[in-house]
Amino acid sequence: MDFIIRPIRVEDAVFINELRRMDGVRETILGIKSERINKTEDFIKGLGPNDHMFVAEVLENEVKKVVGVIGLHINANPRLRHSASVGIMIHKDYQGKGIGRALFNEVLDLADNWLKLVRIELGVFVDNKRAIKLYESLGFQIEGTKKYAAIKNGEYADE
Ligand SMILES: CC(C)(COP(=O)(O)OP(=O)(O)OC[C@H]1O[C@@H](n2cnc3c(N)ncnc32)[C@H](O)[C@@H]1OP(=O)(O)O)[C@@H](O)C(=O)NCCC(=O)NCCS
Repeated sequence: MDFIIRPIRVEDAVFINELRRMDGVRETILGIKSERINKTEDFIKGLGPNDHMFVAEVLENEVKKVVGVIGLHINANPRLRHSASVGIMIHKDYQGKGIGRALFNEVLDLADNWLKLVRIELGVFVDNKRAIKLYESLGFQIEGTKKYAAIKNGEYADE
């Protein structure tokens, strides 16, 4: 699977909005079908020096298309400066092709070798087996269960 990884741009908002709303992604992140493109544009414009976001871009019928995104967000509080949170999503049709692992490797290299962070946090629904398998293979450990963490398909789901 050919793809490139590059820093996010404001014009990626249209793709990212589509990803956040699509079946097969929305359920496992905190997306909602009514989300508007300008919300994502504003979010990208608001990114600061503590935010490190990359996209995976493919060429589909000669047209460039963003099919994955990852964000590493360092805590701004000076006493939490050693830690960051991470979030990731891959287009439904491009999952299971190595893009998620490649995006993670990109931010973990930043975290380990260029920012010297010591802690990376993430939340994941307890039934998101694919994501949990990826995270554990990268060295993440389960620290606990957050009960009733978010609404998902008619239920309060645990993370
Ligand atoms: C979870 C997600 C980020 C993984 O990215 P991906 O590009 O699909 O995964 P990759 O192809 O890089 O595979 C990475 C690992 O995931 C696991 N994996 C991939 N496909 C899998 C499947 N069908 N079943 C179980 N595990 C699977 C494997 O451990 C795999 O390791 P390998 O490289 O040794 O095969 C992606 O599927 C996704 O965005 N899903 C929807 C949104 C989401 O769940 N985001 C995370 C919210 S916390």
